[in-house]
Amino acid sequence: MGAGKTTIGKKVARLTERPFFDLDEEIEKRHGPIAKFFEERGEAEFRGIEEEAAREFLRGHEPHVIALGGGAVISVETRAELGRRAFTVWIDVDVGHAWARVRETNRPLAQDEVSFRNLFQDRQELYREFGMPARDVEDVLLAALGISLVAASDEVTFRPGAVVADENVLRLHPLDLPSPAPSIHPVAPGKSAKSLEMAGRLWDDLSIDRSGPLLAYGGGTTTDLAGFVAATYLRGLPWIAQPTTLVGQVDAAIGGKTGIDLEKGKNLVGSFHYPELVVIDSSVLATLPKHERRNGMAEVVKTGLLSGRPAWELAEREMIRACAAFKAAVCISDPYEQTGRRSILNLGHTFAHALEAASDYELAHGEAVALGLLAALRLSGMETDVVEELLRPEPARVDPERAWAAMQRDKKALAGRIRLVLLEGPGKPVFPVELPDAEVRRELERLIAK
Ligand SMILES: NC(=O)c1ccc[n+]([C@@H]2O[C@H](COP(=O)([O-])OP(=O)(O)OC[C@H]3O[C@@H](n4cnc5c(N)ncnc54)[C@H](O)[C@@H]3O)[C@@H](O)[C@H]2O)c1
Repeated sequence: MGAGKTTIGKKVARLTERPFFDLDEEIEKRHGPIAKFFEERGEAEFRGIEEEAAREFLRGHEPHVIALGGGAVISVETRAELGRRAFTVWIDVDVGHAWARVRETNRPLAQDEVSFRNLFQDRQELYREFGMPARDVEDVLLAALGISLVAASDEVTFRPGAVVADENVLRLHPLDLPSPAPSIHPVAPGKSAKSLEMAGRLWDDLSIDRSGPLLAYGGGTTTDLAGFVAATYLRGLPWIAQPTTLVGQVDAAIGGKTGIDLEKGKNLVGSFHYPELVVIDSSVLATLPKHERRNGMAEVVKTGLLSGRPAWELAEREMIRACAAFKAAVCISDPYEQTGRRSILNLGHTFAHALEAASDYELAHGEAVALGLLAALRLSGMETDVVEELLRPEPARVDPERAWAAMQRDKKALAGRIRLVLLEGPGKPVFPVELPDAEVRRELERLIAK
């Protein structure tokens, strides 16, 4: 009661593009004001109709977000139904705040402070046992995809059956794992690790059963590769991602995409296979080389433009948290890339891919994304200062004909149309936008050194 379930629930629903229901409101629509109902028919009867309404909403087919009344989880049946059909978070709030919010309302169980505090205390244990604790919208989104931000000193709470780790990372930040120690499978750093050969070697070397879990420890290269191995070995193992680059922490380890590269192109073989947990310790970024951080900052700027919140102004840990939560929301709304919503994450990437391909992948991904964001902002009629000041992209030294040809190849793959993600303003992505070829080509060429 007074925790802010309705306010947070509405925001989560908007960000994940799901309908929102407030159970108390739905009950009032059917039975009139709850205070009156309590007075006339008593709490026991109220709990009955509450249980019935909860069952009905939880059994609805379309995924949605529900704010339950504070007492709804007292019912054993509702708890069982939640366990079967929902991901439940407990909005953990300070009792003083909660009382300040409800004291002026006429909620039947919030008539005086002493009994409110007692009730709050009584219910705490039930909530704690039952839901993932969350304090705000970001906590809810992160918890829903098993993402947690930890500190280096936190105790490891999971037990991997095997570890696939980037050799560099293993050396710089040795893992402290509970015994018995799992087998560790080092992977040489570099893009080439995301290969069929490396996946094959891991399939051969692993000796774990289907309970896993396989821990992936490294940047996006490692989590993409190990996630793919987890998706395929023994027809699928649970896995845990522990990303160690900024790209990994704000992007690659979130959203279930796993895969390897082929000679003929990147990420051509893969699978959607969501990790059970994503463990983010931002302190490991202290050893990240500058150019790798820049790659990550390009994704941070992209995310901030999409969400409308200048995440880049936040302290590092908060910045990562905000970006990870935003990506989680987009992925929850379109978990398997079927509705088109996830396409917004490609802001600037159509241009970036063309420049990367034209450079034979010599151009760093972050550099290409920074240039791509410039083009997207210009085509959106927006200021480009953020990109210029934060990412300082230099014009790409590539052949414009090759870059345009690469864009045409993308276009061919998309039924002859270049579909761009643009912005109507900060936080207002639009997709798909189709523009005349000449206009797109002109913007592409502005990104290339003369
Ligand atoms: N699955 C997705 O949704 C998704 C999204 C974005 C990118 N990706 C993929 O991610 C890959 C790129 O990942 P990346 O940018 O994280 O690079 P990466 O994993 O290749 O790592 C880059 C370098 O940083 C080193 N490194 C990693 N952590 C370090 C640390 N804490 N300190 C010092 N050095 C460290 C590595 O050893 C490596 O040399 C690409 O293959 C891309 O396709 C996937």
